[in-house]
Amino acid sequence: MSDSWPDPLLHWYAAHARQLPWRNPPGAALPGDDHWPYRVWLSEVMLQQTTVEAATPYFHAFTARWPTLADLAAADDGDLMQAWAGLGYYARARHLLACARAVVAQHGGRFPADEAALRALPGIGDYTAAAVAAFGFGRDAVVIDGNVERVVARRLALATPLPGGRAAIRAALAAVLPPGRSGDLAQALMDLARRVCTVKAPRCLACPIADTCAGRQTGAPEDFPVKPAKRPRPQRQGTAWWIEAAGDVLLVRRPGKGLLGGMLALPSCDWRGPDAAPPLAGHWQALGVVRHGFTHFDLVLQVQALVLPARPDLAGDWVAADQAGSGLPTLFAKAVQLALAQRAGSGTMAA
Ligand code: ADE
Repeated sequence: MSDSWPDPLLHWYAAHARQLPWRNPPGAALPGDDHWPYRVWLSEVMLQQTTVEAATPYFHAFTARWPTLADLAAADDGDLMQAWAGLGYYARARHLLACARAVVAQHGGRFPADEAALRALPGIGDYTAAAVAAFGFGRDAVVIDGNVERVVARRLALATPLPGGRAAIRAALAAVLPPGRSGDLAQALMDLARRVCTVKAPRCLACPIADTCAGRQTGAPEDFPVKPAKRPRPQRQGTAWWIEAAGDVLLVRRPGKGLLGGMLALPSCDWRGPDAAPPLAGHWQALGVVRHGFTHFDLVLQVQALVLPARPDLAGDWVAADQAGSGLPTLFAKAVQLALAQRAGSGTMAA
């Protein structure tokens, strides 16, 4: 079956295209102007850095000051950096200059039209090469940015999360490129993505290709592209020891380095397993577990209790049991709470 979904989209684009200073109007022949690819390239580098709205004044300022690629190539590095200020990420500005100079040195000051030759230039990757080939030279090229990716993934109701699904998106677009209008198709997809097929609340009723959109048919187009499953957080296990004597409980200061470094805590193992040896022998009671999420792992902490008639000879501070939780990091405050609840509930912790 031939897939003609780009047709209604191009039709929509003819009526709704945003007018942008680096954009050729829908369906129009490219300007015969030698400097057109330069404008396209410059805009694309800026748009990798910021939004259309934020890039536009920079685009005007750059093209007023450096109307041609040769002018830009001859720019003073400091002047260019200064003009770039506010767009951020200065490496891109350095690449911009390096690319302009390479085009002058290697291609007589004119961008090559071929994607592979474009990709060989400094700072030009797959996306920019395809964009310059399509928007700047009218070549057939598959131009995929994050917005295009979203629309196509939805159209396909693509079950494979990105980045794995990218090959399918590329293949789907490559199969329907309208000859000579790759640039229009890509920019139509970009405008549709910004105005209709938005990230969170796609407006399917306003979409020219809704009737052939598999994402819409699922009833939840916003679920595409599918997000990669989050890797399960690693879990660690450990033990904390509640040692109580005459109504007081032992707190220790944790080593300065490492997690909860330098903080007061119940004595505890290094959280590398559930079976650590307690700080002294005795009739330990298991009170249960507390769970706590750290940045890089979840901890399951067993809490064990030993109630003694007198303080054993262990280093640390003895604190009234019912006050012991205050000022402790949350993990140990939870452990104290568990111990106090058991103590209040059953009386089984009595010595
Ligand atoms: N983002 C990147 N390139 C663009 C273009 N040509 N039009 C609109 N948004 C874009």
